[in-house]
Amino acid sequence: MSEAPLSFHSPGRVNLIGDHTDYTGGLVLPMAIDRYTTIRGSRTKNSVRLRSENESEIVEFDLPISSPEKVSPIWGRYVAGVAAEMQNRAHGFDGEVSCTIPIGAGLSSSAALEVAVALALGDTSTPVERAKLCQRAEFRGVGVPCGIMDQLAVTSGIRDHALVIDCHELSISPVRLPNDIKIVVQFIVERKLKSSSYAERVSQCKAAEEIVGPLRLALLSSLTNITDQTIFRRARHVVSENQRVRDFAEMLGKGDLKSAGQLMIESHNSLDHDFETSTPQMNAAVATASSQPGVFGARMTGGGFGGCIVILADATAKIDGWQVRAVNAATKLD
Ligand code: GLA
Repeated sequence: MSEAPLSFHSPGRVNLIGDHTDYTGGLVLPMAIDRYTTIRGSRTKNSVRLRSENESEIVEFDLPISSPEKVSPIWGRYVAGVAAEMQNRAHGFDGEVSCTIPIGAGLSSSAALEVAVALALGDTSTPVERAKLCQRAEFRGVGVPCGIMDQLAVTSGIRDHALVIDCHELSISPVRLPNDIKIVVQFIVERKLKSSSYAERVSQCKAAEEIVGPLRLALLSSLTNITDQTIFRRARHVVSENQRVRDFAEMLGKGDLKSAGQLMIESHNSLDHDFETSTPQMNAAVATASSQPGVFGARMTGGGFGGCIVILADATAKIDGWQVRAVNAATKLD
């Protein structure tokens, strides 16, 4: 039995500042962007079948599904992870996926797919619950112990606003973006975010927390108790990055874009030196972008090891890349 065709679209996100802080309950400042994953099709009974214009292999499985990590092709594991987390609430679906978010760019194409799938399979929970469901789905499907930022940005985006997200409270404070700015994304190189490098950073932050307590509450001065220099630097990134998010939000609110841009550059340097998630190519791209007329600041964005840089500039600046707009959350289309 099939019903009338349905469409759902789900934005990607760019993170303006606050990377590798979400999985210790810290602060992040992303915005949902005008690049989308769209799913069109019809509800069916007990199976999921999705074709994708970007992938040759079809995803097909019966509901309920209990081992999403065994689904093939791999992109189907994100889909099956969501279905598995929805358990008997998941409807069947037969349709097509299309995507204008570049894959492997660090712009959350995975989170966009997960959230679009959750909507297509009939999830009616709140944006926060949907984000948590999709975060669990990613871990269950592909084993990445990601934080909540990407999924929450996708389920909670607000047009013309960036979102200050407290990843411990799961509270969101929208900040209106000034009219006279431009946010530009440059795709530098396909991200090599091995889940092992990401998981290693997650466990290094846990190791720091065993010594100094929650990093979201820690002061830079308390980190001297950490004797392992790598763990110390990871912790110093997280603690200083949380403060940069607070300061950036304040500067954006005041329209002090020069200071906001400087914070982006400091954030990038911290990701490079202390968190070691940048690459020479990303550093060179940030340096070039930052020296352009009208640019306030630039930094790598997202998980790192490649991907995109994000640039904050004057509305009149001429910069290569995609100018992105802050858009509303994932939704069913009429
Ligand atoms: C990836 C993860 C997020 C977050 C970022 C880094 O995008 O999915 O949860 O940790 O990396 O800020």
